Amino acid sequence: MSLLLKNGRLLCPATGLDQVGDLLIREGRIAGLGPEAAAPADEVIDCSGCLVTPGFIDLHVHLREPGHEYKETVASGTAAAAAGGFTAVACMPNTVPVNDSRSVTEFILEQARRGGRARVYPVGAITQGLEGRLLTEMAELKEAGCVAVSDDGRPVASSRLLRRAMEYASGFDLPVICHSEDLALSAGGQMHEGPTCTRLGLEGIPAQAEVIAVERDLNLALLTGARVHIAHVSCAGSVEAVARAKDQGARVSCETAPHYLTLCDQDVGHYDTNFKMNPPLRSAADREAVRQGLASGVIDCLATDHAPHSVLEKEVEFDQAQNGVIGLETALGLMLEMVEQGLLDYPRLVEVMSAAPARILGLPGGRLEPGAPADVTVIDPQRPWRVEPEAFQSLSRNTPFAGRRLPGRALVTICAGRITHRLEEDR
Ligand code: DOR
Ligand code: ZN
Repeated sequence: MSLLLKNGRLLCPATGLDQVGDLLIREGRIAGLGPEAAAPADEVIDCSGCLVTPGFIDLHVHLREPGHEYKETVASGTAAAAAGGFTAVACMPNTVPVNDSRSVTEFILEQARRGGRARVYPVGAITQGLEGRLLTEMAELKEAGCVAVSDDGRPVASSRLLRRAMEYASGFDLPVICHSEDLALSAGGQMHEGPTCTRLGLEGIPAQAEVIAVERDLNLALLTGARVHIAHVSCAGSVEAVARAKDQGARVSCETAPHYLTLCDQDVGHYDTNFKMNPPLRSAADREAVRQGLASGVIDCLATDHAPHSVLEKEVEFDQAQNGVIGLETALGLMLEMVEQGLLDYPRLVEVMSAAPARILGLPGGRLEPGAPADVTVIDPQRPWRVEPEAFQSLSRNTPFAGRRLPGRALVTICAGRITHRLEEDR
């Protein structure tokens, strides 16, 4: 089986490739690219006017399986990934049961093999049951297929335990993904502390609840020399802290999510629980700092923190609603919006959505080169569409972007040479 992507703009920042040409896929691998790739193929897709890039990698999603299959499954979550242009996702361990053992990791990988439409890389827990008391068997988790450890959803409150976790994880070269939050300071909070929060009569979460914890986690990274990745950076103070730690030589990286780049606390204005997540949407000034951090490279990559919840958890009083928004099917469109606004160029978009996440977790992918597995995303940057949650592949609908017009989207997604998503012609 061979597939020829014809006449697209081949764009791969990792190899420096940026030219119009063809990309040939044979037996699941990239067989050739550039003007000379043109060869007969079983199927030809015209990519004129499109970008042909390495497949996107999202290193922070929640697939909810096992345990909450009514919100998402490995099959539905990876279908959402493919629809959004992603060929690989790393899934967080806060499932039921928690992914703190070989058997849960193996179950997730088995579900991915059976019905997955993207590569799935499980993230194992740092502490057993995410309880913050006992470390997991990280050697076993790594052997079973985990690519990192995290207690995402909650911080490891004990600095002593987190230090030990970093030292232990280093021994297996596993990155530690930190959910950085000072629980004493955020306790009871429903949204970012500020004028909107006061007006709505909700309890606030100051940005310092994140910054204090980010500073601690970065300090522990310096102390231990471990590879540390800060999840969902949402505010100016965290961006400054990460920049400083990098200057000091810490082996740290960080991510932000599309909602922190495009929304702010004022958008919660109507108690819409689709704007409730943790960390919360911050001030407009924080949003600007996060945008600049992504453009400058202090923020290494984009991750969606795709966090599906059903109406049961979202169509309730604001203070009762669970935290989280889905993001796999809107991330690219929102990033293209930022390119239109002049914040990023296309190479940086590909870097933050593909090459950087691959590098951070040490995953294959993120490069277009002969012989590499054919994980490819074809983007039509000028194909405006309207976000209609009913049309999502995800089982959940909790997006803050319903109704938003976005400039473009993934036309075709190819994972290991297999077409995992193809946009139907406009009706
Ligand atoms: O908003 C969030 N949702 N933040 C988290 O840290 C966890 C996530 C979830 O699992 O729903
Ligand atoms: Zn998360």
